[in-house]
Amino acid sequence: MSPVESDVLIVGCGIAGASAALRLSEDRQRRITIVTRASDPEESNTKYAQGGIVTLGKGDSVDLIVQDILEAGAGLSLPSAARILAEEGPVLVRDVLIGQAGIPFDRTPDGKLDYGVEGAHSCPRILHVGDTTGQAIIDGLHRLMRERPNIRFVNSATGVDLITFPHHARDPLAVYQPITCHGAYVFDQADATVHRYLAGATILATGGLGRIYRYTTNPEGARGDGLAMAYRAGARVLNAEFIQFHPTVLAAPEAEGFLISEAVRGEGGRLLTPDGKAFMAKYSPEWKDLAPRDIVARAIHREMVEHDYPHVLLDVSFLPADLLRTRFPNIYARCLEAGIDITRQPIPVVPAEHYSCGGVWTDAWGRTTIPGLYAVGEVACTGVHGANRLASTSLLEGLVWGERAAQDIEEMGALPETDPAEVPSWEPGVSEDADPALIWRDIRTIQYTMWHYVGLIRSTVRLDRALSDLYHLKEEIEGFYRTTRLNDALIGLRHSIQTALIVATAAKHNRVSIGCHYLEDGKQAGVL
Ligand code: SIN
Repeated sequence: MSPVESDVLIVGCGIAGASAALRLSEDRQRRITIVTRASDPEESNTKYAQGGIVTLGKGDSVDLIVQDILEAGAGLSLPSAARILAEEGPVLVRDVLIGQAGIPFDRTPDGKLDYGVEGAHSCPRILHVGDTTGQAIIDGLHRLMRERPNIRFVNSATGVDLITFPHHARDPLAVYQPITCHGAYVFDQADATVHRYLAGATILATGGLGRIYRYTTNPEGARGDGLAMAYRAGARVLNAEFIQFHPTVLAAPEAEGFLISEAVRGEGGRLLTPDGKAFMAKYSPEWKDLAPRDIVARAIHREMVEHDYPHVLLDVSFLPADLLRTRFPNIYARCLEAGIDITRQPIPVVPAEHYSCGGVWTDAWGRTTIPGLYAVGEVACTGVHGANRLASTSLLEGLVWGERAAQDIEEMGALPETDPAEVPSWEPGVSEDADPALIWRDIRTIQYTMWHYVGLIRSTVRLDRALSDLYHLKEEIEGFYRTTRLNDALIGLRHSIQTALIVATAAKHNRVSIGCHYLEDGKQAGVL
């Protein structure tokens, strides 16, 4: 089968992939292929973002945004990366999101942009579209992309592995050359075969990894596919231990993983114990309910564990009902479906996995350590988020680094071409059908292991147990993978176990308890 050849291959298409694609497709000669695992190309982590996107608020400054990012990041954010975000982000929000894509950000009655507040921000600066900001952004960006004839979408297509030399080169002497990326092997879910997608540059924009945890706000596809592929190819991975847990996820069985946006606390929502007592002042006298996420999530966890509460409460019922219905229409509707009228009752909430602050290391242009391979958005670690991400910076980071990766590719001029004869076709191997019960069970084992042993509160004993269980499971899964006909779930299982091991190993190696990596028996940051 002949390979699919493009100038640029983009794997995944949330805001980061879309930002890169839009910039690259301005040159109508450039052929861009976007592969997405889901059948709907708009399906991505971006689509589910509620709160919003940071821009320069009123009375705000680049310096103040940088300061807030660095403080939330617990001193581990890269200052130069935070500055790039703060300087370039608001310009792209204005030019691309508002100017080109026409995203209808909410406005005040006098027509000015309405800036929201979220935890650890020094001033109101979050643009939002009700509480479905991500959906509005992704709709706008995909509408623009559909108008570009040089962007080709291939949906229901799962990344299996990156094509790298010397690993996949036919030439045995290629082993003496540095590792380079030439595209990806991609599984077509419709015809159940693996195809070669060759490209001069490959951009990973595969989003997060929340689905390796039992409880997460992330959608089904967030299982670390891009991280696992890059790691197997030999790319440097950084800060993988910094997994952010969102403090407030609806605790209702029929709405598992449904986020109650931090913007709800930004509007005045208060966290209470089930018997109605406010508790955040105890944990953060300065910020209280709007403390950085890691602090709020741990405070809730501590209250739940110490008092055996099944959840805590987030109360907004004292706010005007009209405000709640217009500012948070989606949260209002979903809670109502779960039997909770937020205009009258407090919302039961628990923490859940939300965001990976680390990932595939990149420089300021989205370049990984493998020439030809870029990573943008949640799969990447640009250094912006350090040990704990500041709220509503993730969409902005995707927008900025997508654009920057595209600029870097443009500046390379003619992209390297790969001779298809040099890249072997995928050998189907064996033909036993996968047993869905085994896949489901293994996924659940990974999720529970990560939840209990590599979760919000970690200890050396738990991490050791996680590593030994995960290594054992990896052996089993690799064997299973080699003897079973591929399908999306099996590919995802292999990516998930690899990703879980990356996170657990990073957590085990970092002895310092800091930010999202809270290690009960670790050294305290600053007391090395
Ligand atoms: C939220 O709406 O609370 C999530 C926003 C974010 O993850 O930055």
